Amino acid sequence: MFRERLNDAAAAIQAQFDAVLGALDPVPVVRAMAHATNGGKRLRGFMVLESARLHGIDPNRAIWPATGIEALHAYSLVHDDLPCMDNDDLRRGEPTVHVKWDEATAVLAGDALHSLAFELCAHPKAGNGDVRADLAQSLARAAGAQGMVLGQALDIAAETADAPLTLGQITELQRGKTGALIEWSATAGARLAQADLAPLQIYARALGLAFQIADDVLDVTSDAETMGKATGKDADAGKATFVSLLGLDEAKRRADQLVTEACDALHVYQADADVLRDAARFVVTRTS
Ligand code: IPE
Ligand code: IPE
Ligand code: MG
Ligand code: MG
Ligand code: MG
Repeated sequence: MFRERLNDAAAAIQAQFDAVLGALDPVPVVRAMAHATNGGKRLRGFMVLESARLHGIDPNRAIWPATGIEALHAYSLVHDDLPCMDNDDLRRGEPTVHVKWDEATAVLAGDALHSLAFELCAHPKAGNGDVRADLAQSLARAAGAQGMVLGQALDIAAETADAPLTLGQITELQRGKTGALIEWSATAGARLAQADLAPLQIYARALGLAFQIADDVLDVTSDAETMGKATGKDADAGKATFVSLLGLDEAKRRADQLVTEACDALHVYQADADVLRDAARFVVTRTS
């Protein structure tokens, strides 16, 4: 069921990108945006669609913020891969935007994807004015200087810090770097329904942390061919990660424990939330 839902979400999001970007003049920056939004697991967009389904929201409404968060995530990856950040030339099994085009195009394609994310969240078909304003404002907070950007800034600063980060500091960094957008994604359905965010918030906080632990584990245990991106980068950069601090076994044990916490947080939704529970398990068992 989970696999099917994830595949359906990925197909629907890709179709929406094709429609939205296909309506623009195919200038290089637009082709770069299409390249950057192609592929990926679509886990964040899936969470928007699935949390919306949990609240009885029409998927034709939820597809707008679902595509919006994938646009924002794609922007964050294009900029994360730039030479001044992680300097990566492979992403989702394809050359990164600055390699396929150039750095200026990568900066600008990222900028335009960031704008597009808010345009999609504020789309009239997403809901009433209050809902759309709430989606846009909460996404701005999650993406910005107290959210994803803060996490990225702390991550980059850690590369040149005198001492490796402590577990507490890494956890704080993660809360921004990956946690904020995952939390936004999992709570979007409750925002669309103007319902209580709390259970999904608790679910997402545990899940976001588990997600980053898995990313750190895969950086050590997997390879570029399977991951579609370079591996072994964290150790090369001398970065403290959950794995470098806890060791592989303890990192995996914590991730499993967080998945249990995430699943338990959804008890009010009973069996309706089983697909989201499977998504939590997938996050730590995934191979890419
Ligand atoms: C990768 O995110 C970057 C991080 C936030 C650690 P994903 O693993 O969700 O990447 P895609 O979207 O599936 O490519
Ligand atoms: C990227 O984190 C997080 C964001 C883009 C917000 P990483 O640098 O660890 O992601 P990968 O490993 O390159 O996908
Ligand atoms: Mg990075
Ligand atoms: Mg990176
Ligand atoms: Mg990583």
